[in-house]
Amino acid sequence: MLYILDTADLNAIRHVNEFYPLDGVTTNPSIIAKEKTDFLKLVKEIRNIIGEDKMLHVQTTAKKAEDIVSEAKMLKEILGGEFYIKVPIDEEGLKATKILSEIGIPVTMTAIFTPAQALMAAKAGAAFVAPYVNRLDNITGDGVRVVEEIVCLFDTYGLDCKVLAASFKNSEQVHKSALCGCHSVTVSPEIMTGLIKHPLTDVAVAGFEKDWQGVYGDKKIPDLI
Ligand code: G3P
Repeated sequence: MLYILDTADLNAIRHVNEFYPLDGVTTNPSIIAKEKTDFLKLVKEIRNIIGEDKMLHVQTTAKKAEDIVSEAKMLKEILGGEFYIKVPIDEEGLKATKILSEIGIPVTMTAIFTPAQALMAAKAGAAFVAPYVNRLDNITGDGVRVVEEIVCLFDTYGLDCKVLAASFKNSEQVHKSALCGCHSVTVSPEIMTGLIKHPLTDVAVAGFEKDWQGVYGDKKIPDLI
């Protein structure tokens, strides 16, 4: 399982990158726009924080295949490292994906809502597909079921493409996606940090501290060695 942050909030990226086993960052035009700042400086700073070895997915704003390819080349040149261009699925996006996969720029095909879209994206050469779990749940669909079917299709046909499930609103959606073999998830900082929280953990840790202090006071292990 790869854990990816779906944000361009630099402080949140710094925090999660320091404390969690982070595998990368995804952005899209809405996420970038939310920061209301210089686009290039922002994506460069994200790369700077996470380093060259972690994945950075940046979405194209172009509509025509040739323009998508050209944007992808520019961004890859500037951002280097493990770079992925995010491309929404449509005919031009598929055409761009075929070209980009041939020249070695990996594509994350995004705005995926059906297993049929995902299969087509994988066939075109996408490295990842990003199904939107919560947006499906919001229209009384079953986002996790869609993730599960995509995982199953990729296994059945031996496709190299991986599922990068996106659009989560709670930990349970992430957990259920993991259970069905989803290869990676991209989540908000709140969901990432929420994944390790449990009130019984807090109670357990408080108990350890109380019992220790009852005998050793404020002394720590190094003080007793
Ligand atoms: O990566 C796609 C994701 O950002 C969409 O999430 O929360 O806008 O449905 P959301």
